[in-house]
Amino acid sequence: MRYAMLAGETGDWTIDAIRPVRGAPLGEAPRLQVVEAERADGLPAQWRLDGVVSNIRYATAHEAAALRARQEGLGRPEARRAVLIPIAKSAAWWALAQDERRAIFEETSHHTAIGMEYLPAVARRLYHGRDLGEPFDFLTWFEFAAGDTPAFDALVARLRASAEWTYVEREVEVRLSRP
Ligand code: HEM
Repeated sequence: MRYAMLAGETGDWTIDAIRPVRGAPLGEAPRLQVVEAERADGLPAQWRLDGVVSNIRYATAHEAAALRARQEGLGRPEARRAVLIPIAKSAAWWALAQDERRAIFEETSHHTAIGMEYLPAVARRLYHGRDLGEPFDFLTWFEFAAGDTPAFDALVARLRASAEWTYVEREVEVRLSRP
């Protein structure tokens, strides 16, 4: 399923801050909504980013089962904070073979192992944009309770210090809240 993130005047989420982490930023806007892409056509927006929810690439059967056992879904009433982090990786990353990417992602960077420490507090969804010709390869989306913000910040700092992130060439952090 293809979704669109629309930043503009309407949406359930208030945009509290847009912070460029690496590369070109995104423009300021007051609100954000996530809608099915076909419903987004023609809606006014300051910017729009699309992604599809796709199959897993790197997780092993064992990791996928561990994730399923621990992760919570989106839309929990207590999860009043969200973060959208669009990410593009470099040509060097995409030139690697699947097994080389997996090795950097997990055996070297421990992405899933680190992320698992923050479940179930943080709920997540990964959207893929690369094959749609979008500016970002990934739209990563996270939801958590306001009190879990420091833990989320620590998680992001750990991932950004990993070998995987040396292949990130554009990254923007969009901080969101809802009442
Ligand atoms: C909340 C804890 C987290 C867990 C449990 C987690 C887990 C995972 C897993 C299992 C995958 C691989 C999916 C596959 O097999 O295709 C993945 C991919 C990814 N995650 Fe996370 N993650 C977490 C947090 C984060 C955060 C905070 C960021 C951004 C700062 C992030 C960015 C990404 C990106 C960009 C990918 C795609 C990587 C690629 O395909 O090259 N993740 N994550």
